[in-house]
Amino acid sequence: MERLVDIEKISFDDRNEVSLRPSKWDDYIGQEKIKRNLKVFIDASKKRAEALDHILLFGPPGLGKTTLAHLISYEMGANIKVTAAPMIEKSGDLAAILTNLSEGDILFIDEIHRLSPAVEEILYPAMEDYRLDIIIGSGPAAQTVKIDLPRFTLIGATTRAGMITNPLRERFGMHFRMQFYESKELAKIVELASIKLEKPVLADASHEIARRSRGTPRIALRLLRRVRDFAEVENEDTIHIQRCQYALDELGVNDRGFDEMDLKLLELLIQNRGKPMGLSTIAAALSEDEGTLEDAIEPYLIANGFIEKTARGRVATVKSYELFRLTPPHQEDSLF
Ligand SMILES: Nc1ncnc2c1ncn2[C@@H]1O[C@H](COP(=O)(O)OP(=O)(O)O)[C@@H](O)[C@H]1O
Ligand SMILES: [Mg+2]
Repeated sequence: MERLVDIEKISFDDRNEVSLRPSKWDDYIGQEKIKRNLKVFIDASKKRAEALDHILLFGPPGLGKTTLAHLISYEMGANIKVTAAPMIEKSGDLAAILTNLSEGDILFIDEIHRLSPAVEEILYPAMEDYRLDIIIGSGPAAQTVKIDLPRFTLIGATTRAGMITNPLRERFGMHFRMQFYESKELAKIVELASIKLEKPVLADASHEIARRSRGTPRIALRLLRRVRDFAEVENEDTIHIQRCQYALDELGVNDRGFDEMDLKLLELLIQNRGKPMGLSTIAAALSEDEGTLEDAIEPYLIANGFIEKTARGRVATVKSYELFRLTPPHQEDSLF
């Protein structure tokens, strides 16, 4: 079965997402604290006519990091150049990107935790002093040439807070951690998108989609598109709750929005009866990549209190046992 709530794999749907991406600050729903802070920094830097300080965005896939970067550039009236760390192989690649920037430009580097050490070295003076240090030659004859760069703003995005090196992290003036969305925020996102898709979704139906979307806009929008297909086939002009429930059940989306992989993970931990399980053991048991587990699957379950991460590994919480209507292991034998 297709994993509809899977966020990691880029499907055909994702390429259509661009058209649903908010282009106005007001259409960017939720993340209120981040928006409030950003607005202050943006206004202040505009007043001083300075480039905005570098910004680091942390958070699981699909929560709106790329969208936010675009909105910041829009708000600053700045150009944005978009790239991703895996595309910057050599320090020369980054040097070429940096020397092509103009004053006030925004450079967005996605998956910034994947930069190689050599490339990161180039980034430090660029971020700190808008300067490029290029080493020409090698051995005792090597010389450093310094090139001035325009004042730019780096926006880095990462799904992995723990994998950013300290020197890189410290060079960002602002750090923002994206939160999973509340159901009512996701419902709003779904409603706005459904209007753009010209198939309005009724209020209770948008809440139904929201409830099943793992707190993630990308998933909510993907489910909306699929539900819309069902309504289309039935020649319905709007999306109502019955069609929505039918479609989501048909698509095998659990009514809490759990992915099959979520359920497998919880079952695995429950079978371990409160003994912590290491990431690599879990990955092997589920035939899933460790990175995907850590970036895309666990965070939602941890944020909602289904899994606890301890120094010795992951354990299922009482809430998980309750979900499966099972009795949790005896207090004394477990960690909770
Ligand atoms: N706060 C939000 N309000 C409205 N739509 C959002 C919001 N955050 C994300 N989206 C939508 O969800 C999709 C995924 O967002 P994206 O910025 O690509 O996530 P990320 O870069 O964190 O993986 C986008 O197409 C966008 O339309
Ligand atoms: Mg992104």
